[in-house]
Amino acid sequence: MKQREHFGSRFAVIAALAGSAVGLGNIWRFPYILGQYGGAAFIIVYIIAGLVLALPIFFAESIIGRNARSDTFGAMSKLAPGTPWRWAGLLTVITPLLLLGYYSVVGGWSVQYLFKSLSFSFTDIPAEVIPSLFSRFITSPWQPILAHTAFMAMVTAIVLGGVKQGIEKFSKVAMPTLFVLILVIMAYSLTLPGSFRGIEYLVKPDFSRLTPGAYAAALGQAFFSLSLGVGTILTYASYIKKEENLLVSGMGTAVSDLLFALIAACAVMPAVFAAGLQPGDGPGLVFETLPFIFHKMGQGMPIVSTLISIVFFVTILAAALTSAISMLEVGVTFLADEKKMPRRRATLLLSILCWVLGILCSLSFGTLSHVKILGFTFFDALDTLCSVWLMPLGGLVFTLFVGWKMSKPAVRDEFTNGGTVNVRLFGVVYFLMRFVAPVGILVVFATNLLM
Ligand code: PHE
Repeated sequence: MKQREHFGSRFAVIAALAGSAVGLGNIWRFPYILGQYGGAAFIIVYIIAGLVLALPIFFAESIIGRNARSDTFGAMSKLAPGTPWRWAGLLTVITPLLLLGYYSVVGGWSVQYLFKSLSFSFTDIPAEVIPSLFSRFITSPWQPILAHTAFMAMVTAIVLGGVKQGIEKFSKVAMPTLFVLILVIMAYSLTLPGSFRGIEYLVKPDFSRLTPGAYAAALGQAFFSLSLGVGTILTYASYIKKEENLLVSGMGTAVSDLLFALIAACAVMPAVFAAGLQPGDGPGLVFETLPFIFHKMGQGMPIVSTLISIVFFVTILAAALTSAISMLEVGVTFLADEKKMPRRRATLLLSILCWVLGILCSLSFGTLSHVKILGFTFFDALDTLCSVWLMPLGGLVFTLFVGWKMSKPAVRDEFTNGGTVNVRLFGVVYFLMRFVAPVGILVVFATNLLM
């Protein structure tokens, strides 16, 4: 039998995991959710939710994945043979494909905006027109589909390279580069006149703005940002060597993800305030605001505004790519492990599926905007289905599996590498996985149902 591939080093493991975690969730979603729920106070809730609820689920997924060395369905079947758990495993094969269906549309928007920056399209027009370009662009039929197709082609090409030659290689270059680029943008953003108001917004908590919905949103964001509940972490963990310390790779990923989100917020918010715009502007926030402010502030020096805008959209695109490949990999690993399908064929098949789904999502902003599922457009329906329901459900399944189905010695063995590392911390992590995380998720489900 062919040997299962492995990530080559600790750096490779963290680059791949953090590559999956750091994505549109950090640069595109975090700033506008933060804006909608009131800034600094939300960040505090977000960090607590991350530590006590999201991180334990991250560990649960890593423990299952590395222990079984298999795709999500195979892992459940192997560790709990003949039980319905495997169907839960199958669900987490499907969720990331649905997710990629709409994620790739936003990935496409970043391709298009990068293209616009490269061709000086933003500096050729008055700055004031830029924000309105966004809605015109996403509602037009062809351009976004073309951009989405380009994005999916890049994702497919990387995953075709395999775990080591494709995913690992790309993530090892992309991740450090991303950090440098986002720091450059933050530095620029902080020099904008009026930027201090953005920073104030990020550090001065106003707890009166924390509605019950903010707690659910914080957990939802933590899930989305750490790529939880969709089998991605489980699948990547199945490629981690037995000697690797799961606590270290998990913490390394979570810290990188949080740090990146905070730096991104420090890059985006000052620009939003400097432009005199509203932080709670919604999903268009970074696309409408940043090219506008870059152009406005660089008046007379189009080359500077163009350069900084290129840097910004390269950052979004690279971050989106490292995440999107991890979504596709879940299904590819499933087909390769369970159906013994050659990786190439599995990758192409699933890419086409997601591409078609993405076309429907893309059209749902314009041509198909009248088609509604339970009152939602196609894009919104998939987003709500995945981020509000399926991701937390997947997370619940994984923690219940580790906390209540797997034997405690097996879990301890996996987390402590046979009693050689993290022995003292195991009790706390186990408690969080067994009790705190499942209860937290159930509370959030209840909140979502009642709202
Ligand atoms: N974590 C990614 C982001 O922040 C999104 C993602 C979710 C990736 C689920 C993989 C699986 O953009």
